[in-house]
Amino acid sequence: MNPNATGGRPQIVKNGTINKNRRDFLKTAALVGGSALVTGVPLVSYFTAPALSKGTGKWVDFGPVEDLEPGSVSMLSYEFLIKDGWLVLPQRGIVWAKTGEGHKLSVFSSVCTHLSCSVIWLEETQVFECPCHAGRFDVNGQPISGPPKKPLTVLEHKIEDDKLLALLTF
Ligand code: FES
Repeated sequence: MNPNATGGRPQIVKNGTINKNRRDFLKTAALVGGSALVTGVPLVSYFTAPALSKGTGKWVDFGPVEDLEPGSVSMLSYEFLIKDGWLVLPQRGIVWAKTGEGHKLSVFSSVCTHLSCSVIWLEETQVFECPCHAGRFDVNGQPISGPPKKPLTVLEHKIEDDKLLALLTF
C-alpha cells in the first residue's frame, strides 16, 4: 500500500477514536443493524511480496474498517512471507479488533501473555480464552483468571483510505 496515495500522510487514529465519517457510518450501521452481533468475521489480508526480514515491523492492511460491526470483537487474519536467513517462510496469524462505545477501536494481539498460545474470543462469555492452560482475559484484554498475569498486547493501529492497518512485529 502506498501511504502517499492521497498526497499526504496516512490518517492516524489517536486514542483509538474513529474519524467523523466513520462515526457517522457506525451510528447508521448500529441503528440499521440492530442487535445482529456477529463475531469472528474474518478479514483475510494476504501479502506475498516482498518478504520481510525477521525482526522488523509491518503495517498490515486488514481491509475496510466499515466491515467491523459496532460493539463487537472481530477476528482478523493475515498471511505473508518472512525472510529468515536463506529461508522464506509464510507467517500466518490473527489479531482481534474491538469496536467499543464512543466508536473507539482497539486491536489486540492474539498471543497469550503466558506461553504464547493464540487466544480466541468467546462471544457467549465475552472473554478471550487461551486453549493451552485456560487463561482468560476480559474484553479489554486484562487477565481475569488462569496463569496469565499481563494483559494482551494492544497493537498500534491507524485508518488509511478507510482501511484498518495494524502494526505487527516479527
Ligand atoms: S499459554 Fe495461555 S494460558 Fe498458558
